Amino acid sequence: MRCSKCMLCLLALLTLLALKVYIEWSSDPLWLKRYQEGHESETLTNPSASTFEPSLPANLSGRLGQPGAPATAYWNRQQQLFQALPRVGGSAAGDCQAWGKAAAAKIPDFASYPVAHRRFLLSAACRDYPWWVSGSVVPSCLGSDAPYLLLAVKSSAGRFGERQAIRETWGGPEHGVRLLFLLGSPRGEPGPDLGPLVEWESRRYRDLLLWDFLDVPFNRSLKDVLFLRWLAHHCPQVTFVLRAEDNSFVNIQALLKLLRGLPPASARGLYLGHVFDQALPIRTPKGPYYVPETFYAGPYPAYASGGGYVFAGQLAPWLLRAADRVVPFPIDDVYSGLCFQALGLAPQNHPGFLTNWPAKGKQDNPCIHQRLVLVQPRDPQETIRLWKLMQNRQDHC
Ligand SMILES: *[C@@H]1O[C@H](CO)[C@@H](O)[C@H](O)[C@H]1NC(C)=O
Ligand SMILES: *[C@@H]1O[C@H](CO)[C@@H](O)[C@H](O)[C@H]1NC(C)=O
Repeated sequence: MRCSKCMLCLLALLTLLALKVYIEWSSDPLWLKRYQEGHESETLTNPSASTFEPSLPANLSGRLGQPGAPATAYWNRQQQLFQALPRVGGSAAGDCQAWGKAAAAKIPDFASYPVAHRRFLLSAACRDYPWWVSGSVVPSCLGSDAPYLLLAVKSSAGRFGERQAIRETWGGPEHGVRLLFLLGSPRGEPGPDLGPLVEWESRRYRDLLLWDFLDVPFNRSLKDVLFLRWLAHHCPQVTFVLRAEDNSFVNIQALLKLLRGLPPASARGLYLGHVFDQALPIRTPKGPYYVPETFYAGPYPAYASGGGYVFAGQLAPWLLRAADRVVPFPIDDVYSGLCFQALGLAPQNHPGFLTNWPAKGKQDNPCIHQRLVLVQPRDPQETIRLWKLMQNRQDHC
């Protein structure tokens, strides 16, 4: 008697389990559902996050979450006391190096930091680098040449295939859209000298912004600052900027549709992408995103993943001013998030931006991509295959 009850229970449980597996297997993945729901109810135009006009208060402690008791971690403490980085120009090189030395002296265990972290902090205030190849090979972006959407893609010298795949697919000619790649020096250390090849590429395609600094991961926020400076001076009238990586895949028509559909108030302060909220610093010393406890304490503020986010072009000069007043931080998308936050702008999450896309499997389905805006990572072969599939399958989804 007891045992038959057990069997009945077990049977019922097994049936439920099978049912659950079947439902999950047969239906769209959860994120896609959420995306579709979000899409239908237009949650992305949430006005509370986006009608803000930028501003930059004299004391950023409140905005950057560092009020109250003096912090002990370097970044948090410095942000409480911080005025601004040394001015660019004049004796800038000496000043910025002195700033780095002074910063290092404030961290008791600085000598035990990984070499990349030490190099970062020592040169973090140096933000004045010349062009590697003259920036003038990039056509004008002023007046009637101002694009509606600028695609600013971070790349590095050796990634020729990634760049070419983007030119042949989502970054190809499109009315009102302009493609640019952001690169540091093609002379790595150590490594082959890719200078002549990159110089040829630069003249052939005229889409490379090339600066003369070491192109390493911890110089990516430097790349952002130099790009913002270029943007503020050479492309001030651009309406929107997409900051992406060379392994991102963009559904350009979906992105244009999204941007054109934004209410004007939301468009002015736009900062939108795949948002990480309350992410914690990684404390394992070997990984690329390691941040020592004596350097930064607490969770990160909400920020949009560097795999791809869009922002309003008119924010460029504001972001530049903020970058002078936010203590340097080695991870580029976190640092951008901090600069937006200094301006009082919170990132808006959009479920069509997926920057930790599952590695292999059904991600090749062009119909799924038809409904997404940006996914990452994709390699050049996948990018080209997917693009072709999407062109052919447009009406069948
Ligand atoms: C900024 O304000 C905080 C309190 O919110 C204060 O502790 C700090 O000293 C102020 N910083 C400066 C530079 O005035
Ligand atoms: C960034 O580039 C500059 C200029 O080449 C270099 O001095 C600095 O060490 C680099 N930063 C890192 C973290 O390597």
